[in-house]
Amino acid sequence: MKVGVLGAGTMGAGIAQVASQNGCEVVLVDLNQDMLTKAENNLDKILARLVEKGVVSDDDKINIQGRITYSTDSKDFKGSKIVIEAIVEKLEVKHAVFANLESIVANDCILASNTSSLSIASIGSALKNPSRVIGIHFFNPAPLMPLVEIIPAVQTSQETLTSAKSLIDSWGKVTVLCKDTPGFIVNRVARPFYGEALRIYEEGIADFATIDWAMTELGGFKMGPFTLMDYIGNDVNYAVTESVFAAFYYDPRFKPSFTQRRHSEAGFLGRKSGRGYFDYAEGVIKPEPTKDEVVGKQILDRILVMLINEAFDAVFMQVASAEDVDKAMTKGVNYPKGLLVWAEEIGLKNVLGQLEALFAEYGEDRYRPNPLLRRMAK
Ligand code: NAI
Repeated sequence: MKVGVLGAGTMGAGIAQVASQNGCEVVLVDLNQDMLTKAENNLDKILARLVEKGVVSDDDKINIQGRITYSTDSKDFKGSKIVIEAIVEKLEVKHAVFANLESIVANDCILASNTSSLSIASIGSALKNPSRVIGIHFFNPAPLMPLVEIIPAVQTSQETLTSAKSLIDSWGKVTVLCKDTPGFIVNRVARPFYGEALRIYEEGIADFATIDWAMTELGGFKMGPFTLMDYIGNDVNYAVTESVFAAFYYDPRFKPSFTQRRHSEAGFLGRKSGRGYFDYAEGVIKPEPTKDEVVGKQILDRILVMLINEAFDAVFMQVASAEDVDKAMTKGVNYPKGLLVWAEEIGLKNVLGQLEALFAEYGEDRYRPNPLLRRMAK
């Protein structure tokens, strides 16, 4: 089967690798020859490491590389069953690109976008046959992260959905079905992990290290919110927050944080700039958390109930099934447990009680308990 991937950046290169590892013939296209060369060299290094580790054989390496063609010409997509687009996150550019793709491929070729923040409906509007558009949202790094969100737009046909989902399933990925709404599942439900942590810091309840300690040591999360934001990049994480906030018509639940904005403006972007919430310069010792279990538990509980409230909202608003919401958070961002299962464990009445207490104290819409949570707690 021939698969086209447009854009040879971080995501496109990773998606091309996944497709080829699963036996597809891949055409990877980018306007920029340097990006193609970089992608080709990177893949060689990645596969060499996998050979060393014994994960793939020498023959596998040759075959995986042999199945990928690198090109600067989209016409080479001719004959593809699906093209997955992973270029810059700009709607005008995606429109032009999708219209052009349609003039190259056959009428039954699926045209998918890996967009994180644009609506699939808006991307599909550039097509003469928009029933073939779909969102196929991988996580970074695509070869390692099991989750893929599958997002049919209002125009998408059942046939497109079924074929796209079964293809990605056949690549060994964990797929979840998601409505075409801002942030899809993961980037919507995960917002409080960052936003509530920043708010707790801004209120002076604890410092970055202590909040991270509470979430990892007491909560079992692999990384604390500040370490994770430093890893993602404060500029990137802030931009996602701002775009989700705007896309939800400025719902206060998603309000971005000044602290993150200032860090981003100052160039404290995280690991990539050498400094974010923490200093990554050589020899600098990471600050010690204040290991007060009572405060730690308050921090964990507050962030956790906010995450659970968002998970309930996604189910309440039919964005995805409860099972898929839990799958998305455990397979896409490595949460130690699905949020809805977690809510049952600590008790829905308990979760509701904590949210009601926050809402009563702050009087802010951000803390309003979700109606589905209320109903189920009853
Ligand atoms: P990137 O900046 O690493 O790569 C984009 C590539 O597209 C570049 O190589 C660029 O030369 C190429 N390009 C730009 N315009 C083009 C055009 N008209 N025709 C052909 N190639 C073109 O970007 P990245 O991070 O890989 O993101 C790509 C898409 O994937 C975006 O829509 C983004 O929202 C989405 N995404 C990104 C994730 C991430 O963690 N970086 C995660 C999931 C989705």
